[in-house]
Amino acid sequence: MNGSPILTLDNVSKAFGPVTVIDGVSVNVLPGKVQVLLGENGAGKSTLIKMMAGVHQPDGGRILIDGEEVQLPDTKASEKHGIATIHQELNLVGTMSIAENISLGRLPRRFGLVDKARMKEDARAALALIGLDLDVDRQVGELGIAHQQLVEIAKALSLNARMLILDEPTAALTKREIASLFKVVEDLRSRGVGMVFISHHLDEIAAIGDSVSVLRDGRFIAEVPATTHEDELVRLMVGRDIDQQFPRRREYAGPAETLLEVRGLSTKGMVNNVSFSVQAGEVVALAGLVGAGRTEVIRAIAGIDPYTSGTISVRGKALPPLNVGAAIRAGIGHVPEDRKVQGLVLGAAVNENIGYATLAATARAGIVDFAGQRKRAQEVADKLRIRMSSLDQTVGSLSGGNQQKTVFARWIVAGATVLLLDEPTRGVDVGAKVEIYELINAITAAGGAVVMVSSELPEVLGMADRIVVMSGGHVSGQLPAESATQDSVMSLAVRDVQREIEDKQMKDES
Ligand SMILES: Nc1ncnc2c1ncn2[C@@H]1O[C@H](COP(=O)(O)OP(=O)(O)OP(=O)(O)O)[C@@H](O)[C@H]1O
Ligand SMILES: [Mg+2]
Repeated sequence: MNGSPILTLDNVSKAFGPVTVIDGVSVNVLPGKVQVLLGENGAGKSTLIKMMAGVHQPDGGRILIDGEEVQLPDTKASEKHGIATIHQELNLVGTMSIAENISLGRLPRRFGLVDKARMKEDARAALALIGLDLDVDRQVGELGIAHQQLVEIAKALSLNARMLILDEPTAALTKREIASLFKVVEDLRSRGVGMVFISHHLDEIAAIGDSVSVLRDGRFIAEVPATTHEDELVRLMVGRDIDQQFPRRREYAGPAETLLEVRGLSTKGMVNNVSFSVQAGEVVALAGLVGAGRTEVIRAIAGIDPYTSGTISVRGKALPPLNVGAAIRAGIGHVPEDRKVQGLVLGAAVNENIGYATLAATARAGIVDFAGQRKRAQEVADKLRIRMSSLDQTVGSLSGGNQQKTVFARWIVAGATVLLLDEPTRGVDVGAKVEIYELINAITAAGGAVVMVSSELPEVLGMADRIVVMSGGHVSGQLPAESATQDSVMSLAVRDVQREIEDKQMKDES
């Protein structure tokens, strides 16, 4: 295998307006190697790979492919060189089928017509590359975020790329899905494909990477082997030590009060007779596998989705179903799983996005304090260290992790007392994670309550007071966090799956 780079970014720089976001960085992508890019939210990782993908052009420096200087004026030019890119924010068309999405831009034609049968066959073959068995006629919009991500990866792989760029591909995936993705990466590695990999999960770096380039504030800090100890990687990345990963403190000393009570909640498709309550000062985690119904419960509480039976009350007062405004006025804040589609107005400024819930709650009274709200937005943005040029920057141009912090800031400013967090630290760097945990502590110390859906078991065990485990749409058990372990949570989470398998085995045997 030839060891010379497929692609080189040579001393590239990039500014947006007056702000330099990449400052003289060099990266090599070698055949059969995985080059990891590591850095805090906003460090410039996605901007770098967008230069490789033809989305952004460097202002200074050169791009070399096979040692020759090239221009990549658009994504087509990059694709022509065999570069496939999975961007951080998904690029699929929700209203089209899986098959249509996979063949988008290169539909097989027969006698001038789209050859549907071949299109579906191609799509099934592409999915098979990553061991995924989905009905290719399904609309992409109906899939969960994890499956959408996998469809996009399948699509990129089906292009026969010689270089594959993965910008946080694992952020929304389960352990099993990550394992199958890594198998695909191994396979591509042995075929000499060069890869660029971005992830905030440090444990994945040693598992999959060869070399790590660390960025800080758009500058190159170091290139180290992927086997470098995690503590050292963190130090290079944030420039300081982070000692306490889960700083859960239980400081609330006020009167006991049930802030949120869910009784017998059922929805049409998924959720079946779910009951739990959350006290002032408490963090309750909803644990379970993807598809266990956790997000559905959260969305029903937030007033987004209807339910067929049950009651939801805040401070003893029943909430009307399917009424987002009423939920906000009752003090409920919701940080959704998919911030791009559900959480943010990407074309609007950071300030407007942060102010949205406050305005939605106060506009009824007819008084809107724009100046006061801007001041509060600035304070909270500073506290959360949202990296932006000013409150007027559009949210769509913030880095992924900073978009997540913006949704958080909204509810802090709105003074929500019951926060519903759906995968709150997905795509968030190690330093910012701790900041979000501190915020959770601040909210509960002030007498608020937090319901957190998280697929990260260490986060669940580290931050929750109580763990409500869901399986197949219902509550399979509740555990106090002190005595819970990863194993005890998992065994409740897979209980239904386990039963199904046993039932099937019994049937097969008889
Ligand atoms: N189109 C744009 N206009 C203005 N600023 C931008 C634009 N794109 C990126 N930036 C800024 O460039 C900086 C780097 O962003 P980038 O998306 O590369 O970060 P990142 O390292 O990928 O972070 P994350 O881990 O959060 O995804 C950020 O401060 C961001 O606000
Ligand atoms: Mg990014």
